Amino acid sequence: MSATALQLPSSASAPRYFALVPCAGVGERAGLDMPKQYARIGRRSMVAHTLATLLQVTRLQATLVVLAPGDTGFSAHAPGFHGERAWVACCGGATRAASVARGLAELEARGAQAYDWVLVHDAARCLLRAAWVDRLIDACSGDAVGGLLALPVADTLKQASAGRAQQTLDRSEKWAAQTPQMFRLGLLQSALAQVGDSVTDEASAVEALGHAPLLVRGELENFKITWPQELALAERLLRTRDAETIV
Ligand code: CTP
Ligand code: MG
Repeated sequence: MSATALQLPSSASAPRYFALVPCAGVGERAGLDMPKQYARIGRRSMVAHTLATLLQVTRLQATLVVLAPGDTGFSAHAPGFHGERAWVACCGGATRAASVARGLAELEARGAQAYDWVLVHDAARCLLRAAWVDRLIDACSGDAVGGLLALPVADTLKQASAGRAQQTLDRSEKWAAQTPQMFRLGLLQSALAQVGDSVTDEASAVEALGHAPLLVRGELENFKITWPQELALAERLLRTRDAETIV
């Protein structure tokens, strides 16, 4: 499973759980005239939906949102995000991984310890439900490495070149990674420091250290809003949640 055993101080008090939400991207592929996390979906902005769910997860000590330096729009777009468990830092970097690394340093500065768990969750996965976060915590809190929500790939996979299928790939044992991704703060810091800023998720950095993160079954609805069509789909899904009075 892991190349290096994780060192925990024997006198460590019970680890705490923190959420870290990278929210410093520009949303280029969404093609809006503002960062996509501030797009309105139903009654709230995208990031406001995400944060409302994380605040419902009572095991989370605090949720830190990482904004781009100079971001002045956040409080207007997420007015419900306040209180002792709602932390904000304008320390985002040029890539998602850089934003996460800077957020980890901020958590440490605010008292998080190396053995505490950090759940990194994309602001752009705004259909998250508290029960899915609890599922991840339940599955990973006893694990030596940590893990992530992910889905086994169901579609047949094609290797393409110039828009034409060249061959069909074996899809067995292939999973699509989602977030949250949950690792100990210390492990995640060393992993990101070692692999650099180009990785697109935390698990790939942890894998590069020789560890094998646990894959915890996620949900189709926990997709990331990347393209305009997904914004429209999220809006439709949230409308049906309105009927369930969850939003
Ligand atoms: N993110 C971040 N800092 C960056 C880039 C991305 O905090 N420098 C965040 C985004 O705000 C988003 C999450 O990482 O919540 C996932 O990234 P992605 O979906 O790629 O968002 P963007 O980078 O904003 O979109 P695009 O790649 O289309 O520009
Ligand atoms: Mg991006």
